Amino acid sequence: MPTRLAVLISGNGSNLQAIIDAIRMRMLDAEIVVVVSNRKEAYGLQRAAKAGIPTRYHPLQPYRAAGQERTDYDAALADIVAAYKPDWIVLAGWLHILSDAFLQRFPYRVINLHPALPGQFPGINAIQRAFEAYQAGKIKKTGIMVHLVPDEQVDSGPILATQEVLIYPSDTLENLEKRIHQAEHQILLAAIYRLIEGDEA
Ligand code: GRF
Repeated sequence: MPTRLAVLISGNGSNLQAIIDAIRMRMLDAEIVVVVSNRKEAYGLQRAAKAGIPTRYHPLQPYRAAGQERTDYDAALADIVAAYKPDWIVLAGWLHILSDAFLQRFPYRVINLHPALPGQFPGINAIQRAFEAYQAGKIKKTGIMVHLVPDEQVDSGPILATQEVLIYPSDTLENLEKRIHQAEHQILLAAIYRLIEGDEA
């Protein structure tokens, strides 16, 4: 049976597309059972729909407007995802921090992709912050990591894969971002491949 993946996104979904393509090319013995976005305009929702994958839109705003807690939102998100019975949940550019109301429903089954090396630049705008640190002479390289999300700590958890990305004097933020995104697709696929192999072993 193909491994069942739920993919959570907030934006462009280029990493989602990489997974879709890898499955289509039979590089991954997996099936994306649902794509969830917290943003209606996320282009990744269109990518999923085009590939015939069920999509769900789960916005935070109505919860805020009703004075509900973030944990209510996360519990409802967990219900949505659980209904599709995923083996793994892939955070591929999901821009909300997940609370235990979600994570405890899927212990050690949530993975996250972050465009920085472990321990460096957690949170948003990681590539930009790395670029600025390079320009300030503080670092010479940045990178990417894929890790398990066992708890509420941001961009931290047992590492599944990392890759260093050198920064060059001629780099602009734009071409560094482009290089990182290209490398991300490879490392994310490699990490998912290993998870699937581990489940099958
Ligand atoms: C990636 O840089 C990922 O590392 C970060 O959000 C971005 C998502 O890109 N968490 P995309 O939506 O997959 O194109």
